[in-house]
This record gives sequence, structure tokens and C-alpha cells, in this order.
Amino acid sequence: MDVRICQLVAVIFLQISITAAQNNDREILLALKDVWQNTPPSWDDGSDPCGSWDGISCTNSRVTALTLSSMKLIGGLPGDIGHLTELQILDLSYNTGLSGSLTSQIGNLRKLTNLILVGCRFSGPIPDTIGNLERLVYLSLNSNGFTGPIPSSIGNLKNLYWLDLSANKLTGSIPVSSGTTPGLDVLIHTKHFHFGDNQLSGDIPLGLFNSNMSLIHLLYENNALTGTIPSTLGLVTSLEVVRLDRNRLSGDVPSNINNLIHVTEMFLSNNRLTGPVPNLSGMNLLNYLDLSNNTFDQSLVPSWFSTLLALTTIKLQNTNLVGELRAAMFSIPQLQNVDLSNNQINGTLNIGSNPSTQLQLVDLRTNQIAAFAQRRQYHIDLILMDNPICMESGVTDRYCSLPTVTNASYSTPWNNCVPPSCGSSLVSSPNCRCAYPYTGSFFFKAPSFSSLGNATIYNSLQDSLMTFFQKADFPVDSVSLKNPSRNLDDYLVINLEVFPSGQTSFNRTAILTLGFALSNQTFKPTKTFNTYVFLSENYDNFLPEISGTGGIRHKSSNIGIIIGSGIGGCVFVVLLVLAVTYASRQKRQAETTSRRSQPFANWDQTNMTSGVPELKGARSFTFDELKKYTNNFSEVNNIGAGGYGMVYRGSLSNGQLIAIKRAQQGSTQGGLEFKTEIELLSRVHHKNVVGLIGFCFDQGEQMLVYEYIVNGTLKDSLSGRSGIRLDWMWRLKIALGAAKGLQYLHDLADPPIIHRDVKTNNILLDEQLVAKVADFGLSKPLSGANKTHVTTQVKGTMGYMDPEYYMTQQLTEKSDVYSFGVVMLELITARKPIVKGRYIVRDVREAMNTNKELYGLHKVLDMTIGLSNKVKGLERFVDLALRCVEEMGNQRPAMSEVVKELEGIMALGGFNPDTESSPSTSASYEAIGKDYNHPYSNDSLNAYSGGFLPQKLHPK
Ligand SMILES: *[C@@H]1O[C@H](CO)[C@@H](O)[C@H](O)[C@H]1NC(C)=O
Ligand SMILES: *[C@@H]1O[C@H](CO)[C@@H](O)[C@H](O)[C@H]1NC(C)=O
Ligand SMILES: *[C@@H]1O[C@H](CO)[C@@H](O)[C@H](O)[C@H]1NC(C)=O
Ligand SMILES: *[C@@H]1O[C@H](CO)[C@@H](O)[C@H](O)[C@H]1NC(C)=O
Repeated sequence: MDVRICQLVAVIFLQISITAAQNNDREILLALKDVWQNTPPSWDDGSDPCGSWDGISCTNSRVTALTLSSMKLIGGLPGDIGHLTELQILDLSYNTGLSGSLTSQIGNLRKLTNLILVGCRFSGPIPDTIGNLERLVYLSLNSNGFTGPIPSSIGNLKNLYWLDLSANKLTGSIPVSSGTTPGLDVLIHTKHFHFGDNQLSGDIPLGLFNSNMSLIHLLYENNALTGTIPSTLGLVTSLEVVRLDRNRLSGDVPSNINNLIHVTEMFLSNNRLTGPVPNLSGMNLLNYLDLSNNTFDQSLVPSWFSTLLALTTIKLQNTNLVGELRAAMFSIPQLQNVDLSNNQINGTLNIGSNPSTQLQLVDLRTNQIAAFAQRRQYHIDLILMDNPICMESGVTDRYCSLPTVTNASYSTPWNNCVPPSCGSSLVSSPNCRCAYPYTGSFFFKAPSFSSLGNATIYNSLQDSLMTFFQKADFPVDSVSLKNPSRNLDDYLVINLEVFPSGQTSFNRTAILTLGFALSNQTFKPTKTFNTYVFLSENYDNFLPEISGTGGIRHKSSNIGIIIGSGIGGCVFVVLLVLAVTYASRQKRQAETTSRRSQPFANWDQTNMTSGVPELKGARSFTFDELKKYTNNFSEVNNIGAGGYGMVYRGSLSNGQLIAIKRAQQGSTQGGLEFKTEIELLSRVHHKNVVGLIGFCFDQGEQMLVYEYIVNGTLKDSLSGRSGIRLDWMWRLKIALGAAKGLQYLHDLADPPIIHRDVKTNNILLDEQLVAKVADFGLSKPLSGANKTHVTTQVKGTMGYMDPEYYMTQQLTEKSDVYSFGVVMLELITARKPIVKGRYIVRDVREAMNTNKELYGLHKVLDMTIGLSNKVKGLERFVDLALRCVEEMGNQRPAMSEVVKELEGIMALGGFNPDTESSPSTSASYEAIGKDYNHPYSNDSLNAYSGGFLPQKLHPK
């Protein structure tokens, strides 16, 4: 054989092998897709995962991030995942349908930096192989059902920054290194040990802590840990939050704990600690102290309380305190709550004359207090029940009974607007727009405050969330916080709602980006709130995926596998097989394509006068297909009705939403007419015109399949029914969009089309509120001899109909202009053209006084536009509308002039009609977190805090 041919074959083979390795990631994703229910619809199309699948990010065609939080995935995590060897980020958080054990193959993902499985239902042991992931920076396995011990191999994760294993069912003791066995003590770069809410037992090993560590959060609450608090804890001076509460710790608190001078929140409550109440006088930054429910030796009420000026909260309930309280304690400037109940505090209570202005609750029940030196009227809930002072008969002082508990309630207020009623599942945002929010709860594990009634605190959280979302260019309109409360773990729980901007729902990209920002703690609240866990609820109202055309997708190719299995065999045979397979596949595809695009070939020949219709991009559906997509044309999918029949919503197998116009039996047209209509519609392609996806001419049915436009009709928005509030700028944009659509039909479509039924009901708004002209049921093409008008039976809608057309039966483009003028008047008045015999055109003409501001139209204008000076150009808009509704067609402007004038009006308000055509214009949000203040401390590790979002919201 010729050597050169062999070389050539070798080179080709090599190249194909490389492709095979890349394709392999795709095969693995397909395998995951088989295991998981509810993968995003974009996973169903045969395209390259790296280009278009939600939740996938790639570098050089290899998958580097798989982020699918909040997708309602159901299934397990198969070992296949271990083959995605370039994976750096794996986030499957908030999929409560993900269960089963965590595969040990996870250990093959050597490049993994972030492994995030918050809030799933995984169970079984955490595999030892997790210790192979040496690049891991962020490990969050919290809120699952993991059992068994913490693998000591985690000690190998030298780069670990964040370790959260909380809220599982982990047992056994905390591993420390010995000999060749690794342990958590060697994790000197780790800042977070979050192990709360497990069943960990045994002593906290002395060897766990050392002075090389840089831990800031030590959260071991609610376990079954025994023994004493190791004295080595005092060596970790970087600590800021210490939670050892709700365990079985005993013995003395080591005195060097007082060296932890950076600690701001300290919980040692609900243990069996003995010895004297620890001296914490060195913790000058301490905000929150809870030592309650321990068996300390009888101790005098510590005098150092009053020297810790950052304290907001002092809780030493049931700690065997004796002696008198000092008034100085109550004047700690930010003090909010004091709970010293169940002790033996005696003498006279003296709160002093200047207690903290934030002081809310002083609980001293069940003590020995005999008197109260009331200096003045205090606005404090003081509880002295079960003290001698309240025991004498006939005592009726207010402090001798429990104060009526006014549950601190908070919810984000309306932003100077009146909330609309939003119907069943929509919710009004603080900006009074109805939408489907992304919801969930924050669990703040160590906030610095205890009084829940102070709105300032929540405002600051709202602000930091919004600042974060805006910096990151998330499509978020506003956030709402609700129902703050403390749960049994003493976590502060706050419900969160995040509202989409410019549309009623988030799409999948937006949801999984939001989910990641919260599961990965990319969002960092201020230090007041400290560390949190966010658990999201299911999101059910995804926007439809806008997946380019509704055209035919190429099925997935299995070349990779064929090649893979061919290696070792005869190269020529492989190539041959390949060529044949490929060719036959192409042929099959070509056949499918041709069958689909020539449906009329099966057409009843008697109905057909000419040959194959000219179709540009319109696809033929069978009746059975559409039946499936609409769930058998079910009631719930019926979204409208008209003289011609019904409109149904459906979704294609790739998830794209469609609207189907189904002609009633009896109102079907002749086959030829139907064909003509499809020909006409399939030629229309414009941003402001609703696009035809396909049609069905099968089993006696005639149906037109359009893209589904999510935000419904302009009429619904103007009437407030859709819950979308349109300000002046939006109305201008919508008018301009619709005008452009009509201009296209008149001037650019071939042949030109007269719509004949322009009205607010036929202008639809997409998720970006882009106006789209719809419904060509009555449209007439201008062709042949009738280049300027067509004579036709008068059809249209009362109130919008051109009077000239009505009288002469001659339809021209100017008839659409007339109707559009009525639409413009409707845009500023939000009233129907004809109400109780009054006609909008006449009413505006009569109310108008050109000498006055806004032409004196205040009475007829829609108040929701907002009559501030922001309403720039209203007068010109009215002028234009009235020119459009001139009696004589030849005095009306052409649509092209209308478009120009509207652009001029928009420019008046400082809007650029070109760049502002979508509500959010933005680049990428990779800069996120780079300069965002860190909540937990001053540290900021890049891998965790910045530049780590795998998914851009605006991929192109
Ligand atoms: C102390 O224990 C009592 C009784 O179990 C409990 O009701 C109370 O909530 C505990 N106090 C704190 C601060 O945890
Ligand atoms: C309060 O208790 C302390 C310690 O038990 C005791 O020394 C002191 O005399 C008591 N004071 C009063 C006023 O009973
Ligand atoms: C509410 O919180 C702010 C900030 O922490 C504080 O300045 C203010 O005094 C508090 N208001 C009340 C009534 O406690
Ligand atoms: C999802 O929404 C964002 C922001 O609204 C948008 O930029 C993006 O193109 C949308 N993605 C898809 C697939 O529609």
C-alpha cells in the first residue's frame, strides 16, 4: 500500500479520534439526560450541548460547568458523571427529586473546584473518593440525607475554602489526621466548617484546632458531641462565629477562649458545661452571646457585660447566676434583648435612666428580684414573673404578666404604587407588576441582631440583593422579603421572592443562574446577617425557550461511539462503515425533511389547482402531533376563541410554546384558499410580526401554528388584566414596534399585505414586551392589477374601521393607518374605542385644547402612564394619532411616516429607539463579586467570590 495513503488515513483517524473525545462529553450528557427527568427542553434538541444547552458551559468543546439548580430534576447521579473529566463546577442544588447515593465516580472529576448539591435528597455515605478532588474550593453537601461519617479524606482537599455538610444525618466523630490518615485539622485554608444539624458524636478532638488555621465560621450546632471544648480552640484567633450549642459538651469552658477577640457571635447554649461562667471580656466585637441552659457553677452576674459595647443580645437563661444586675449593662448602645430568666438574680432591678434606645425585651422571669427602681416610663417588654416582686398578693404591675407577644412581622412594602390584583398564581412585585417570582428561604445562622421588628435591617438586605443582581446584570425587577422568624435552631428565617424584570417569568437560564448565585454564596449579605443557607422552592412558570427557528432540528449524531468502538479494527472498514452510516443518515434526514415540507403532495387533488405551494420555513404538522402538543386540545390549553374557531396553547417536544388557530368545522376554507394563506403567512418574517411556525392540513382539519407570545394582547395590558403596567416609555416602544410591523406588511412584504383588522387585541407583547402584530385572518395581499386597493366585502372590527373603506368598500393601506390611529388613542387613554355610544376619536378631539399643557387631556388620559414631566412628547403623539384618523385616506400619513414620527417622539424623551428596544441592555456579568464587599470577613478568595459564574445570561 502506498505509504502516503497510510499517513493520510492515520491523520484522518487521529482527527476523528479527537472529535470522538469531545463528542464523548455529549454522550455522557445524553446518558445523564436519560437518567434525569425534567432536563431543560434545550437538552432535547439535537444540537451541540456546548452551544445551546441550558446549564452547560464549555471550554474548547469540553464541558467545564454543569449547573442545573432549581430545575425539578428527578433521578440519581449516575457514575457516568465521572467521565466529564474537565468539569470544574457541578451545581445540582434545589432539586428535591435527586436522590440515591453520591457515586464514588465523583472522585474522577479531578478538575472540580465547586461541588454544590444543596437541598437535594441524596443519601448514603459521602464517598471517600471525594478526597481525590484536590482542586476543590467549595464543597456544599448540606440539606440532604447523607449518612455515615465525615470521610477523613476530606483532609486532602488542601484548597478547600468552604465546607458545608450541615443538615444531614452524618454520624461518627470529627476526623483528625494521624500518621498517614488525613483529617480536617490540616485544612489550614478552610474558612468555613459548617456541620450543624447532624448526629455527629464523640469528643471534639484536641488535635482538630491549631494556630495555622484560618477558620472564621465554626458551626457545630445541634449534634451529639460530647467531652469538653478543647483548649486548642483558643488558638484559632481568626474565628468570628462559634456555634457549639445544642450538643452534650461538658466540663469547664477553657479560659483561653477569651483570646478569640474577633468573635462576633457565640453560641454555647444547651450543653452540660460546668465551672464558672466563662470570662469573655476580651471579645470586644461580640454582638450576640448565648450561654443559656448550662450547668455552670453559681457565678455572680458578670460585670464585663457592660464593657462589651457591641452587644445586641445577652442570653444566659438558666445558668446559675446570682447577685444583682448593674444598670450600666442596660445602656450598652445597641442592646436589644436580654434574657437572664431562670437564675437567682436578687436585689433591686435598676435599668437606669438611659437604657439603649433599641432595647426591646428584658426577660428576668423566675429570679429573686424583690424591687424595681423605675426611673421613668420605659418602652421595653419587661418580664418579672416568678420573682418575689410579683408574688405578693394583689400585684397588678404590667411586668408581672407576660407581655402580649406582637409577632414581629415584616414584608417589603409597595414601592409607591397600588398593587394590582394578579389572579391566581401571579404575585405582585414591590413595583406593582404581576409576575411569577422565584421563591425560597434564607436561613441566617448567626445574625448579629435579635430584634426582628426593625425594617432598616431588611431594607439593607433588600438593597444588597438588588445591588448584587444589578451589578451581575440579572433580569431582576425587584425582591421582596417576608415573614422573618427564628426557628428551633435559632436561625433567622426570611422568605425571599425575586421578581423578573420586563416579563412575567424567568426563563431557565435566569433561574439556574439565580440558583447558582445563592447556592454558591456568590451573593454575600452584609456582616449583620452573616452566613446563610438558601433553599429554593420549585419554579413552575418558565418562560418558553426562544430557540431560533421552529425548523427541523438535526438528530444527534453517534459518530463518536461508532468510532470509539472501531478503534483496533481495520481503519478502512471503520471509515467505510462511517461513510455509509453517515450517508444513509443524511438520506434519511433528507427524506424526513422533504416529507415534512411537501405535505400538500398528499393533498386531495380535486382541491388543488396548482402544484406544490411555495413554503418558506413553514412546517407541516399532522393532526396527531398537534393533538399531542396541546394535550388533546384540552380545555386548559384553550386560550381564545373567535368566529373562525379556537386558539390553543401547546408546546413542541423541544419545549417551544406555540399558539394554534384551529378552524371550526364549517368555517374551514377551501384547500386552495388555505394554501394561499399559508403561502402568504410563511413569507412574512419580521421582529414585529408574529411568525408562523407551521400548519396542519390533515384529517379534515385546518390549523395554523404560530409562535406563542407570552405576555398576551396589548388590550389586556392596557386594561390591567395581564398585570403588566406600561409606563409612557413602554407605550411609545410598543406603538413604534407595532407601527414597524405594519410598515413591513405594507412596504416590504411581497406582495404587500393590508392587515384589515388592526386593533389592540391583535397586537401581542412578547416577554421583552416587544410588540408583534398578529392575526392575518382577514389580511389581503395587494397584487396584480390592484396595486393600490382591493375591493372587498367590508370586514373588520367596529371602532377601528376606516369610515372611508366602510363607505366605498375600497380597502387601502390607509385603512390600516386609520385603525392604528385608534390604537394610539387607546394607548394614551386605556379605554375601548366605543364605550356606551361614545367614540374615542371624537372624545379626544373634543377634550383637546392645544393651548394647555398636555393639551388639557388630563381627564381622558390613562392615569397609569404617570402624568409627570416624564411624559415627553405626548402632544406630538396625539397630533400624530389624530392625523391617522383623518376622514380622508389621502390625508393620513403612510405607516413609514408614522414610524419616523414615533422615533422622533421617543428621542424627545431621551430614549434611543434602537438601543432601548429591550428592557435590559447589558453586557456580561462576569465582573460580579470582584469589588463586592465580603460579608463574612475581609478575606476574599477569588475562586469562591468572583468570576465564577459559569453561565452568561446573554450568551451572544
Ligand atoms: C433552655 O431550655 C428550655 C427548656 O428546655 C427551653 O425552652 C429554652 O428554649 C432553652 N433556651 C435557649 C436559649 O435555648
Ligand atoms: C444576693 O445574692 C448574693 C449571692 O447569693 C448575696 O450575697 C446577697 O446578699 C444577696 N442580696 C440580697 C439583697 O439579697
Ligand atoms: C434599627 O436598626 C438601625 C440600624 O441597625 C438602627 O440605627 C436603629 O436605631 C434601629 N431602630 C430601632 C427602633 O431599633
Ligand atoms: C433568558 O432571559 C435572559 C434575560 O431576560 C435573556 O437575555 C436570554 O436570552 C434568555 N434566554 C433564552 C434561552 O431565551
